[in-house]
Amino acid sequence: MSQLFEPLQIGTLRLANRIIIAPMCQYSAVEGTPGDWHLVHLGHLALSGAGLLILEATAVLPEARISPGDLGLYDDTNEAGLARVLGAVRAMSPIKIGMQLAHAGRKASSHVPWQGGRQIRPDEPQGWRAVAPSAVPHAPGEDAPLALDAAGLQRIRQGFADAARRAARLGLDGIEIHAAHGYLLHQFLSPIANKRDDAYGGSLENRMRFPLEVFDAVRAAFPADKPVWARISATDWVPGGWDIDGTVALSHALKARGCAAIHVSSGGVSPQQAIKLGPGYQVPYAQRVKADVGLPTIAVGLITEPEQADAIIANGEADAVSMARAILYDPRWPWHAAAKLGAQVVAPPQYWRSQPREFKDLFENAAFGAR
Ligand SMILES: Cc1cc2nc3c(=O)[nH]c(=O)nc-3n(C[C@H](O)[C@H](O)[C@H](O)COP(=O)(O)O)c2cc1C
Repeated sequence: MSQLFEPLQIGTLRLANRIIIAPMCQYSAVEGTPGDWHLVHLGHLALSGAGLLILEATAVLPEARISPGDLGLYDDTNEAGLARVLGAVRAMSPIKIGMQLAHAGRKASSHVPWQGGRQIRPDEPQGWRAVAPSAVPHAPGEDAPLALDAAGLQRIRQGFADAARRAARLGLDGIEIHAAHGYLLHQFLSPIANKRDDAYGGSLENRMRFPLEVFDAVRAAFPADKPVWARISATDWVPGGWDIDGTVALSHALKARGCAAIHVSSGGVSPQQAIKLGPGYQVPYAQRVKADVGLPTIAVGLITEPEQADAIIANGEADAVSMARAILYDPRWPWHAAAKLGAQVVAPPQYWRSQPREFKDLFENAAFGAR
């Protein structure tokens, strides 16, 4: 019996199976507002049979975007655009949909990846001055960000809370707070980016303070019967950087505040990172968080094979797997996995006739006739 296709409870949210579509920036929004690309992109992912679809990093303020093309949820136009896209997607699929709320911090104001991804300097067209815990650039030679003062921190807490209220109005099933990959909240956690000497820098407790304040703001602004969770980089892959012990401490603190799950990724804060890549390379970090903290834990990173994903769940290494590149490459990955593992998956009735002869019970409730 496949464990990957067992239901999972994340707080009050019940997922039909343990396959999660990881957030993936599309850099295709206009002033934060999604368009037809999102309709097509999310539309096909929504037909995948996965248990949860997490929308791409969604900026809580205009200056929180990584690139000028990032999705945002900071104004009424963004909200209306998302309402249109989500309305269409929901009409086609029962998939649960979460949203990743994000602030890019010092990695803001970048070109989109297919234009090289380098920093857009504040005085260049479409560029802006980034903000960060400290005036330390991400990479040597880049323009330094502005170190956040008390008013700046308040604007960001407020931005997260306001976006969470908009997400609630849009009927999102859950919120993931992006505290990974070297973006703003991770910048606070990591001694590599956080050089502050006030209550938000120095000790582990101080470096965790702002991410926890943001969690509290989002948790208070989003309906209590829907989950809020966090994505964390478990290590910076740089000696002296953020590490797994900090990740466990942060996860405990989040749990005490009502966090529903931890999504365990890694890296992103420093160009000096030396990542040890390989199949499931971040799973041991998820396993440590799950064992020590006991919250539902999501593993991610080079999980590409059905048997591999199933074993991660069966061995108790994580409660769910999330996938990005493999499911972008093959948006029917959960169908193929269910077929391989002898499980069932939800498919739209329009496609039921595609069920291969040898997998007669693959699609849940499938039945069709003709005269
Ligand atoms: C196109 C693309 C966009 C991504 N955008 C995001 C994002 O918005 N937020 C995030 O936390 N991670 C993002 N990631 C990272 C993925 O969520 C995932 O953690 C990473 O790709 C490793 O998983 P994989 O081996 O299954 O691809 C992105 C990855 C890709 C390939």
